[in-house]
Amino acid sequence: MRIVMVGLPGAGKGTQAAYLADNLSVPRISTGDMFRVNISRGTELGRRAQDYMRAGQLVPDEITIGMAKSRMDQSDTADGFLLDGFPRNEHQAEALDRLLKDNGVSLDAVLDLQIPREEAVRRVAGRRLCRTDDSHVFHMTYNPPRSAGLCDLCGGELYQRQDDTEHTVRSRLDVYDRATEPLIAYYRARNLLVRISALGPVAEITQRSMDALRQHS
Ligand code: AP5
Ligand code: ZN
Repeated sequence: MRIVMVGLPGAGKGTQAAYLADNLSVPRISTGDMFRVNISRGTELGRRAQDYMRAGQLVPDEITIGMAKSRMDQSDTADGFLLDGFPRNEHQAEALDRLLKDNGVSLDAVLDLQIPREEAVRRVAGRRLCRTDDSHVFHMTYNPPRSAGLCDLCGGELYQRQDDTEHTVRSRLDVYDRATEPLIAYYRARNLLVRISALGPVAEITQRSMDALRQHS
């Protein structure tokens, strides 16, 4: 299956993408993670992206689209993928359409995880990540680590993303409203939109997503 995930910052795209990619046996492709890896490795791409990310703004399309395209050209996407965080505006959505068309394939669904704005702020501001493995994600209230500052899974040090301050989250929400929200109409018009509530326990939301995707296909 070829699926795009959309939703406010903190909606749980990364959390759900890990389970859904596993259930669907497709790779998860997160442009946010790809940028963060490039920043931590000090690459040229990372240097070009970091100021935009720190400010909660979109990284320019000419950087993002090329990066996403080269990832999707890899052989592990032949049977599908789960895109987390791409596309994020209409220009990126059109670029994705062209890429898929060139490869003779198309999207199956766009999964929209819905949460209220204030919940997005709470989730993002309370998030902590493990320095050893970014897929080890905690929340100071909803999923607190047993010992403060340390990962339950591997003992690594927990840290807060630079763009997870309340001030930057609010900029990211504004960017979502302005640039990404129009994609809802774009994909609804193509009969690809699958909307679910992303409130509740993580496992329930995974189940809800799987059921909704199955119904749609
Ligand atoms: P990106 O990394 O994509 O961030 P985002 O879209 O803002 O999403 P988040 O990672 O903040 O949230 P999420 O929905 O994945 O939630 P999570 O599962 O972690 O992008 C970052 C930046 O990179 C952008 O601002 C931009 O600068 C740049 N960028 C990326 N892609 C781009 C593109 N295509 N174009 C241009 N620029 C781009 O969960 C959040 C928290 O909530 C965690 O603590 C988690 O434990 C908790 N949680 C999850 N589910 C639940 C639940 N059900 N109940 C309670 N808590 C929960
Ligand atoms: Zn860890």
